[in-house]
Amino acid sequence: MICCPTCDMTSTATTDEAMVQPMAQSVARLAQMTFTINRLVAEDVFNESLNKLKKLLSQMTHKDINLDKELMNESLISRLRSRRCSVTFVPICETQHFQMCCFALRTNRCRIPLHNHPQMFGLIKVIYGCVSVDNYTALPVDGKYILPNDVSKRVERWQRDFLVPVIYNGKTTIDSQSKEVCVLTPNQRNYHEVVAIDGPAVILDILGPPYREDRECHYYKVVTTVYDHRLQRDITWLLELEDPPEDYRCDSLPYMGPNIYFD
Ligand SMILES: [Fe+2]
Repeated sequence: MICCPTCDMTSTATTDEAMVQPMAQSVARLAQMTFTINRLVAEDVFNESLNKLKKLLSQMTHKDINLDKELMNESLISRLRSRRCSVTFVPICETQHFQMCCFALRTNRCRIPLHNHPQMFGLIKVIYGCVSVDNYTALPVDGKYILPNDVSKRVERWQRDFLVPVIYNGKTTIDSQSKEVCVLTPNQRNYHEVVAIDGPAVILDILGPPYREDRECHYYKVVTTVYDHRLQRDITWLLELEDPPEDYRCDSLPYMGPNIYFD
């Protein structure tokens, strides 16, 4: 199976590119293997494979996917383009078990707004520049959370059904030199926002399983944070948005890296 048939390594690859080709393919194959495992049946096997994937992904750089140089500088063309679209999406690879893609944040402070990946795992590696990642963990839906007045007065009555109580896990700053990989799970750190710091930045995302109609992401805004005396901790309340925020405009560029094959 050929995942990414848009380029021909045999005719275009330089020696350097040929040397790095195995990394993109190795990561994709390990992701495929990991997200094929039924974690409900073999949780230990899944976790072990996920850790291996995280370790391998930590070594990945923009060179491994021949990332378009336009996405890594603030040239006039890039700045003009970013006026219309703050983020550029590069699809790399998708199977029924996972998807791998890049998001290029075109200029300083560009962001992927607060969103979730329902029922999905996500791995984020910064492959160019520097980003901050804020993440939140949703509280169990069976929790009996009394809607604080401080929250209810800030939203319309009909919006109350779209409130999500979460725990704020903090902000992490990561640059492309770091080996750090952010891992979100269906139940932990699933709500997150990514912001470029000090110029353009590019992240590589692996999502497993991939998006489907019943697994579309939603966008949120923070309403406020209120101390919960019963839980004895701060609870942040998010409001699901009907549409993506207006400052989030995304375009796409084709993947021009090495072909990715599966057996
Ligand atoms: Fe995400």
